[in-house]
Amino acid sequence: MKNHTSTLIPGPLDSHTANLFLSQNSTVLLSTMLVAILTFIALAILRCGKIQPALHFSTAVPPYTHLTYPILGSLQYFSDPWNFLRTATEKGSVSFHLFNQSCIALSSDARQAFFSDWLTDPTLGYAIMLAGTPNLSKDFTKTVGIDITLGGRSYKFLTALIRKERVIAKMPTLYAYAYNHISGFGATTDPFESFPEIIFRLTVSIVTSSNIAANQAACNALLQIFIGLEKAATPVTVLFPWFFGPDRMRRFYLMKQFYNVMLDTIAERKKEGRNEDDAMQFLIDQGLSTMEITQFAIAVLFTGNANTAVVAPTLLCDLAMHPSYLSQVRDELETFISSFNSDMSLPLQARIQSIAYDDWTKPGCLPILERCLKETIRLRVGTPLHRLNNTEKDVKMGRVIVPRGTIATFHTSFVHHDEKIFPEPFVWDPERFSPERAEDKKTPMAFAGWGLGRHPCLGQKFATFEAYLLVALMVSLYDIQVVDERGQPLTEMPPPDLQNQVVSPPPTAIHLRLAARE
Ligand code: HEM
Ligand SMILES: *[C@@H]1O[C@H](CO)[C@@H](O)[C@H](O)[C@H]1NC(C)=O
Ligand SMILES: *[C@@H]1O[C@H](CO)[C@@H](O)[C@H](O)[C@H]1NC(C)=O
Ligand SMILES: *[C@@H]1O[C@H](CO)[C@@H](O)[C@H](O)[C@H]1NC(C)=O
Repeated sequence: MKNHTSTLIPGPLDSHTANLFLSQNSTVLLSTMLVAILTFIALAILRCGKIQPALHFSTAVPPYTHLTYPILGSLQYFSDPWNFLRTATEKGSVSFHLFNQSCIALSSDARQAFFSDWLTDPTLGYAIMLAGTPNLSKDFTKTVGIDITLGGRSYKFLTALIRKERVIAKMPTLYAYAYNHISGFGATTDPFESFPEIIFRLTVSIVTSSNIAANQAACNALLQIFIGLEKAATPVTVLFPWFFGPDRMRRFYLMKQFYNVMLDTIAERKKEGRNEDDAMQFLIDQGLSTMEITQFAIAVLFTGNANTAVVAPTLLCDLAMHPSYLSQVRDELETFISSFNSDMSLPLQARIQSIAYDDWTKPGCLPILERCLKETIRLRVGTPLHRLNNTEKDVKMGRVIVPRGTIATFHTSFVHHDEKIFPEPFVWDPERFSPERAEDKKTPMAFAGWGLGRHPCLGQKFATFEAYLLVALMVSLYDIQVVDERGQPLTEMPPPDLQNQVVSPPPTAIHLRLAARE
């Protein structure tokens, strides 16, 4: 079978083929293309054995959706996941397929079952749906997706790395990075570019390597590789992981670059005989190979960084668009900072250093900011969540059976944008979460912004700290106005972009105009 794959790798054109293309003979060109497409489909069918997922006629497997194309399946899932999942599940959960992958779209009322534990490692579903990370095996033709869970060990490592004692030890460094970055802004900044840089740096220093984090240029270079990897995870790489198309090659190449950065960092450390107290040393001491360290870094950055890099700047924009909230939050933060260090003669940088990691996330210590963050996540973060059934254990998901090998998906917009749960769902209104209104508490499992049930977000505390710290620095150092590309004040934030598989920045450019405060 693998021979078929290798014939798909474009080779150098022989003179005959080259002439065909040069002659511009459109009939020949068209038929060549047609043959190529038919060959591709035939190979795909051969390669995968089955094109239609096995249908299980048990009553508990949801009926098949009519929103589907022959062979390829419900491609709408990639182009517009929210509208597809909403329309398909109007009458309840349905089955669908994406080429050879069978899936089940759960309706809103099935969420209790979705979030209650029945599978140990949800990452597996994401590994398939988001194309995982490519395997850098020496044999090019054999590289399919890799196991980003490192056989289930990833979570154990991440949990150890974001334990508070480890973060506390890094606090002075994290504060310095954040302060230097934010205080260096000029009269304008694109927060969806400048915030991801600092968030990446903070995340890298906790879960990747303090040497890379210490070098701003190296860190930005790694961020560019990472963004490239994210962009190259296209539906083609998901549907046909074995197909050596341009995206797949690009992913392989970027993965190799990422790997080389890890390799150099480790080699340098060995050469100088240093023994840093950082994530990389921890992973080396756990016996991980350089390849495994690379996989871990990419997996954690995908899970943690992309979300935070959108949520933190969006929170700031939402605040700046609502001046009454901005001033309340500014006052709340000033009181908060002063409660740890009230010496106003000291620069902000020095006063903030007095706040411990735990203090930032103590429940109720920043109630207004807390509501605002929750509301930004509710309104702006809408993505499908995935679970792959990889067990033999016979448990049902509520009334639904998800056969082995099938991925169940649930979209957070089913709750976050349901007007029966959150009236006027597209209005940013933090008071929904006030003790009086508590809209999220009136319906079970209404707020899924940090996950629910057995698989809540492992990085919630760290992500909250990052968002609060950056907002605190911004509102203390600057007066902020949200403007468009041409510098015109924005009248309202663009509606959330729900046509994505992952949390994404707003579809239109948003900039901040900044004026230094006294
Ligand atoms: C504002 C930022 C963040 C948001 C909105 C967010 C949101 C979420 C959500 C909704 C889930 C549940 C996914 C599901 O049920 O399938 C989740 C899980 C997870 N998050 Fe986050 N997250 C954020 C930041 C982070 C960070 C910074 C890290 C790590 C450093 C992280 C690590 C994880 C992990 C490992 C899981 C999987 C937990 C499990 O499966 O048991 N997240 N997150
Ligand atoms: C689909 O095909 C790919 C490549 O042959 C294979 O790795 C994957 O396991 C298949 N998926 C299913 C659900 O059969
Ligand atoms: C990468 O692919 C090779 C060759 O197929 C395989 O032996 C190896 O286990 C894979 N590595 C991972 C981490 O999946
Ligand atoms: C997962 O698949 C197994 C084997 O087909 C089945 O017994 C089990 O009920 C499935 N789990 C769920 C939650 O549907």
